[in-house]
Amino acid sequence: MKSFDQMFLANRSWAQAKLQNDKEYFTRLSKGQSPKYLWIGCSDSRVPETEITGSGPGELFVHRNIANLVHSNDESLLSVLKYAVDYLKVKHIVVCGHCNCGGVKAAFDGLEDEHLGEWIGDIKSTYMSNKSGLSEIDSDMAKINRLAEISVVKQVDKLAEFDIVKNAWKRKQRLFIHGWMFNISSGELNTLKEVNPDELPEFQ
Ligand code: CO
Repeated sequence: MKSFDQMFLANRSWAQAKLQNDKEYFTRLSKGQSPKYLWIGCSDSRVPETEITGSGPGELFVHRNIANLVHSNDESLLSVLKYAVDYLKVKHIVVCGHCNCGGVKAAFDGLEDEHLGEWIGDIKSTYMSNKSGLSEIDSDMAKINRLAEISVVKQVDKLAEFDIVKNAWKRKQRLFIHGWMFNISSGELNTLKEVNPDELPEFQ
């Protein structure tokens, strides 16, 4: 574990390195942001969205929660989504799940803990409605990872039904939604699903 001293030292050398490369780096950054991507990911410390996508400050607008879930009554998510779509006019929304996800495992195990158990209720119901298909998979870990994938696709489909997203399409904002999976064991990202507005009747 890094000490706070080490973190601040690392910060100063990072800032100096940026300036050495480009004297105007922070001046430019402080003027505003126009990211093209909204990233909806898991809070898991092993999935740092900027690092795994080679992105820098200003490139990703980010919302993270346990198990990268999209709840239509989550004001935190809704405000991030609204700002990203209506004001920043992002071109892509990425929902990124990952293997070995503690939130998905907790849902699989039927965790009832206060707050946590309620939060992952959506994955519990995804598990229930996919139980027979998942029963054909041998190990629990593989079942959990498949459940994580199914859940990502479900979140993408849910997002496509949000008024914020549908209204963007109605006004011809070319907004894509992607479902991705990050494999912690290999470090690789893969695509599970893509919603392309060009293929939607409401976008024609
Ligand atoms: Co997770």
